[in-house]
Amino acid sequence: MGTPENFHQAVGGDETFHRIVARFYAEVAKDELLRPMYPEEDLGPAEERLRLFLIQYWGGSHTYSDRRGHPRLRMRHAPFKIGPLERDAWLRCMRIAVDEENLSEPLRAQLWQYLEMAANSMMNAWV
Ligand code: HEM
Repeated sequence: MGTPENFHQAVGGDETFHRIVARFYAEVAKDELLRPMYPEEDLGPAEERLRLFLIQYWGGSHTYSDRRGHPRLRMRHAPFKIGPLERDAWLRCMRIAVDEENLSEPLRAQLWQYLEMAANSMMNAWV
């Protein structure tokens, strides 16, 4: 592989996002606060949506929007109460998943900064 053209390539492409999101949902499945928020019994489809979104966001394929249209993530999260506890639980699961990747520090920091910002911006409740 030559010089990476974007972040998606720099972290190792689709496979890296596949592992991170699979690990994240393994944690969600065990989380007492988060698990009941997911409307479907099978977390597989939700896992695929988050994976495709992150791949697209970081410069990989556009499959997320081809299937789902404009992300409008705040709007799509409106049905779920997301306060500080839910945000912290989401970030806790994601932190485990990201840390297990052993990315180089600049890449890990860039990914984590985005995820924290995104999680904060998804909040729609303050208790
Ligand atoms: C969907 C919870 C933050 C990306 C969902 C769903 C729930 C949820 C319950 C519905 C499951 C589904 O059917 O897909 C939360 C909670 C968060 C959070 C509690 C805490 C802050 C985030 C963040 C991102 C994100 C930070 C992006 C970086 C997505 C995506 C979908 C989704 C892409 C699927 C949207 C669609 O196409 O329908 N989330 N989320 N979420 N979430 Fe989150």
